[in-house]
Amino acid sequence: MTPSDRLNQLPDGVFQELAIAAHERRKKGLDVIDLSVGSPDLPPPPHAVEALLRAAQDPREYRYAITALPEFHEAVARFYERYGVTLDPEREVLQLAGSQDGLSHLALTFLNPGDVALIPDPGYPIYDAGVRLAGARVEPIPVDAETLQPRFDAIPPEVWRQAKMMILNFPSNPTAAIATRGTLERAVALAKQHDLLLVHDFAYSELVFDGVQPISLLSIPGAKEVAIEFNSLSKTYNLAGARIAYAVGCPDALAALRKLKSHIDFGVFLPVQRAAIAALTTPWDGYEHQRAVYAERRDALCEALGEAGWPVRKPAATMFLWAQTPGGQPSYPFALALLKETGVAVTPGIAFGSRGEGHVRMAFVHDIPVLREAARRIGAWLRQHHG
Ligand SMILES: Cc1ncc(COP(=O)(O)O)c(C=O)c1O
Repeated sequence: MTPSDRLNQLPDGVFQELAIAAHERRKKGLDVIDLSVGSPDLPPPPHAVEALLRAAQDPREYRYAITALPEFHEAVARFYERYGVTLDPEREVLQLAGSQDGLSHLALTFLNPGDVALIPDPGYPIYDAGVRLAGARVEPIPVDAETLQPRFDAIPPEVWRQAKMMILNFPSNPTAAIATRGTLERAVALAKQHDLLLVHDFAYSELVFDGVQPISLLSIPGAKEVAIEFNSLSKTYNLAGARIAYAVGCPDALAALRKLKSHIDFGVFLPVQRAAIAALTTPWDGYEHQRAVYAERRDALCEALGEAGWPVRKPAATMFLWAQTPGGQPSYPFALALLKETGVAVTPGIAFGSRGEGHVRMAFVHDIPVLREAARRIGAWLRQHHG
């Protein structure tokens, strides 16, 4: 059996290779501190769990959902008021089975083989994989090493002419950067000038620290004419395994994605939709609480790594630390050796694109004592191997 050329052009999942190395360690009775996957460890809101349990006891909730409950669309529209954005619940909201669902089907919806999509480098891997699966071509948007903003000026004019889609992601996975308003305004202007679909992945919209206000792309005047924004309940409400998210914005673009999805899936399990509606509409102190928990972990991890001889830049948002490898070592051998010899699993920057090389990403999805232990092991290992 031979997989398709379409599949063969994708790299083997780095996450999977690291998982095998972690498994080998555990088989030997050794532990693993897993900082490699951004899977939230905090609990979902209790009212969401209650709504899910209540619905799960009703046999009628087990039919195909087919489409979203109208209350879900209304709940998203109300939630988006916090970003200063008004949405028409019927035309400007599309439910997804996770934003990965939407992002992976995006290129199939909008690109023909040979078309060009601009994606951030480094960037979240599904952008690249989705474009390649559609037979389209990826062109990188270089990310400035200092400001962590996209360097639109570095994109050649002929690439702008060919591009049909541009994807941005703020707060960013992996760099943890927040967009400046100027970046988003420029992106909207460029999308209009070059007649391309602008896509913003806003999955970490609620994990922004130090009192900074997150900016929705749709709050930029004129954005809705050219742009859609993805957001998710995975990180905001710790519902990552429940698989529910949404896209908002340009009605024509959402209608196209809705059409593709109507051929692929039958909607999100109704009890999960009920949980999401409860999460989006119930007043909750968890937004601030989570920001405080992640910010405290961030501070502890940065401090502990600094003490361990690995100074790192403090992330402004997300649950990720984006750190240069000591001495700029290649990220994959570094991450693999670190995992095998200390049990600390981090993600090699190369998994996020060629400009991610020389970096690793650490997810602070553990309590502070565990993060300190990870830093302690890293420090001892660095002293042993790198002087
Ligand atoms: C930037 C970014 N976008 C999208 C996703 C996927 O989220 P979801 O659980 O909604 O599919 C993730 C998950 O880690 C992410 O980091």
